[in-house]
Amino acid sequence: MTEINQQTKKTPLKTGEKLLFIVAGAFVILASIAFGIMQYVMATSDKPIFEQHTHFDLSAVGEKGSAIYRHNACSECHRAMSEGTNMGNSLDGIGSRRSVAWLERFLIEPEKTYGHVTMDHGVRPKQAYYVALLPKPDIHDLAVFLSELKSDQGSSSSPVPPKGESPFIDAMVKTWAPDAWKEKYTDIRDKKPSNEGVK
Ligand code: HEC
Repeated sequence: MTEINQQTKKTPLKTGEKLLFIVAGAFVILASIAFGIMQYVMATSDKPIFEQHTHFDLSAVGEKGSAIYRHNACSECHRAMSEGTNMGNSLDGIGSRRSVAWLERFLIEPEKTYGHVTMDHGVRPKQAYYVALLPKPDIHDLAVFLSELKSDQGSSSSPVPPKGESPFIDAMVKTWAPDAWKEKYTDIRDKKPSNEGVK
């Protein structure tokens, strides 16, 4: 009888196990406090939390496009000029990647322009089907507006690496790229927004 009792009695934690629980518990508590502080700072700080690497300078047509953008619920899925949601992709800086012609064509014929199936743009019942049905002049103004959302070279939304300020990249190009390539290809750092997919 006494033997069984002794077996079912809980064995006390070993020192190592206790230490493990204390350390793990401390992590959880610290992480919760840090998360709380971060949320508080995000909600109350008037300074941008992340550095902005995109900018825009709207022309008169761009302003018109911006109004059309706002009236057509684009921001329900997209983020642009620091507003909107992250449901679709961010359009900040898109003007450094895509030309007006590309944007216009994408808005009208998304799948043809991508060359594959899309998720929201396209024909009914895709959710953003209405975009392709907007009047042509509105689509043009939208494309102009989007093309004016630029990103700084070297930022994460830019297709182009930092300006030729990298001695490392320069040295690698010099060492490894045959001279023939230099004539045949453009250095990506000098590349202009792409017209890819425009016919
Ligand atoms: C229902 C969500 C939704 C709405 C509304 C929407 N989009 Fe999109 N958009 C997307 C998604 C998702 C993609 C990626 C392509 C795809 O799968 O459809 C995209 C892609 C794009 C692209 C191409 C980005 C790139 O570089 O590949 C542009 C430009 C664009 N949208 C502009 C607009 C404009 C302008 C409007 C409003 C008139 C709009 N979108 C409304 C979801 C949406």
